[in-house]
Amino acid sequence: MTSAGFDTVVERTDTALIVVTVGAAEQRAGCVVGFHTQCSIDPVRYAVWLSKANHTYRVALFATHLALHFPEVGDRALVELFGGTSGDDIDKFAHCGWAPGPGGVPLLTDCATRLVLRRTTLWDDGSDHVCIVGEPVAADVAPGFAPLRLADAADVDAGHAAEERPLPSSLEDGSGGGDVGDQEAGRDEEIAGADERSRHELEELAAGAGHAVDLSEPLPGPDPDPDTDR
Ligand SMILES: Cc1cc2nc3c(=O)[nH]c(=O)nc-3n(C[C@H](O)[C@H](O)[C@H](O)COP(=O)(O)O)c2cc1C
Repeated sequence: MTSAGFDTVVERTDTALIVVTVGAAEQRAGCVVGFHTQCSIDPVRYAVWLSKANHTYRVALFATHLALHFPEVGDRALVELFGGTSGDDIDKFAHCGWAPGPGGVPLLTDCATRLVLRRTTLWDDGSDHVCIVGEPVAADVAPGFAPLRLADAADVDAGHAAEERPLPSSLEDGSGGGDVGDQEAGRDEEIAGADERSRHELEELAAGAGHAVDLSEPLPGPDPDPDTDR
């Protein structure tokens, strides 16, 4: 396969751009997404792919709902905010209008065309993006809706490059994350003793691998009766 051929097919397809937002606990996140599509008719399902490098992905792991906003040509500022900056650095929701929607998902008030999904499944094939599939629970369309397309945002520099996904090697540089390979021995003690930064790095690492963990909760002990609940 030639990558030029692949790129040409994708460029000419010129997908509509969306802004995906999610909320979990007190955290809100959102980013521009070009990877999205309807993926079932009956039952109806819609899929989006989030980069493991993104703040939005890490919040989405804990969210029940996703809002998919379809910006139009006049919404360029929204695309620059959600595609060109990261929630790791700024609070994007302090720079735009929003209101809470189903399951606490933030709805962007300046973007009238949107779908809200209730998450049904998450699929990690080991690549740098994770597929989240959901059941549409709300759909609104602005009169005369004409979506902004991938080519319209070709000059927006993504807030996170996909290769910024946290990797195990980032914990081997002495920055304080400990050696994940040693977790088998004394894992409980290591996590209990971790400072906030190490804890954050381990959470990011888990998110990068596609597995959500909450290190604020004690680790589960061994099952007292392995035959129950089977
Ligand atoms: C045109 C364009 C398309 C993008 N497509 C996707 C995508 O499909 N999935 C994704 O997770 N990020 C995509 N991004 C990257 C994120 O929108 C960008 O890195 C964002 O700043 C991440 O913000 P966050 O760290 O707050 O989540 C795209 C960015 C642009 C400019």
